[in-house]
Amino acid sequence: MKKAVITGVTGQDGSYLAEFLHEKGYEVHGLIRRHSTINTERIEHLLKGNGNKLILHYADMTDSSNLIRLMSEIKPDEVYNLAAQSHVGISFEIPEYTAEATGVATIKLLEAIRLTNPKCRFYQASTSELFGGLPETAPQSEKTPFYPKSPYGVAKLYSYWIAVNYRESYNMFCCNGILFNHESPRRGENFVTRKITLAVANIVAGKQEKLSLGNLNAKRDWGFAGDYVKGMWMMLQQDKPDDFVLATNETHTVREFVDIAFKKAGITLRFEGEGVNEKAYDAKTGKLLVDINPEFFRPAEVEFLWGNPEKAEKTLGWKREVSFDGLVEMMVREDLKKVNE
Ligand code: NAP
Ligand code: GDD
Repeated sequence: MKKAVITGVTGQDGSYLAEFLHEKGYEVHGLIRRHSTINTERIEHLLKGNGNKLILHYADMTDSSNLIRLMSEIKPDEVYNLAAQSHVGISFEIPEYTAEATGVATIKLLEAIRLTNPKCRFYQASTSELFGGLPETAPQSEKTPFYPKSPYGVAKLYSYWIAVNYRESYNMFCCNGILFNHESPRRGENFVTRKITLAVANIVAGKQEKLSLGNLNAKRDWGFAGDYVKGMWMMLQQDKPDDFVLATNETHTVREFVDIAFKKAGITLRFEGEGVNEKAYDAKTGKLLVDINPEFFRPAEVEFLWGNPEKAEKTLGWKREVSFDGLVEMMVREDLKKVNE
């Protein structure tokens, strides 16, 4: 039985990956940090009493001695490094902590592996934020130059290169998955897609008046998280370590996401105005449903992400299965259920 360790197992991707690896027959170990409240909602179905499909260990990515002990005790075949302060906007508020948890932590984990178990295969959760989203570079691929635009992106740049460096210096099996945005009903509620689908559900249920957003013009290449965790695993099953983009090869504005999400709940929007004065109304009733709050603008914005997944499709045989429309529908449907529970 192969053993895998997932850092960030309580997060969106960690929970889907834990399910996927368990189904593949792995012994799955997840690292969680201590909280004053329980935050295992996404993995509850995999824990004790539910067949014990996931073994949890306390760890914080900033604590290297703990990582060394765990790597030496578990001796995993594969490590998936998903833990990070992953919110781009918030990384401007807590830049130093983001550098520690999203950047420097990766060298702590890589050193722990190198010292105790260097044959272990390593997946680094790299990101399309590395590209900075300059329109002239789209669609972005493994060959596109990096130009991170946030403390989060800069921290991830360090992690990307240190994984490459350990591959080249020590012949370790390190892969970077350069993943474009991927979403799901388990997405954190302060990322834009989930904020939108939850608001749609709450508005329909009469529990929220309107939705306030930042930049509606930003474009993202949005896929389904469940498709992307499969790609992470595929990278570690290759003969040679390498870096791969996972994306859908489609791009949509935040405005389009909003429009479709409301449509899925039976509401047609009428957009009016521009910039901070842009608003969207229910076309039938005239009620204001969406407005702009500059509080959600970022000091620097990644305007345009559109990924080219050709290398992963050809080399790994990876392909996304859920369409953009299917993703929005799934998220709205699940949030409508949730708010009515
Ligand atoms: P997420 O939902 O925010 O989950 C992040 C995970 O990291 C959580 O389990 C969190 O634990 C953990 N974590 C944060 N700081 C930690 C620390 N100091 N020590 C230990 N654990 C810590 O993120 P996600 O969407 O699943 O993304 C997974 C990874 O892929 C992240 O590295 C992200 O940056 C990267 N990525 C995501 C996307 C995307 O679109 N989702 C795209 C490209 C790359 P708590 O639950 O305790 O907070
Ligand atoms: N969060 C948020 N909240 N974003 C908003 C809002 C709002 O109210 N209004 C507009 N946006 C815009 C952001 O400015 C950004 O351009 C876009 O919506 C997407 O924002 P997020 O959903 O927060 O995701 P992200 O693209 O910044 O980062 C996500 O994807 C990266 C991969 O490209 C995160 O998952 C990162 O961890 C990941 O690396």
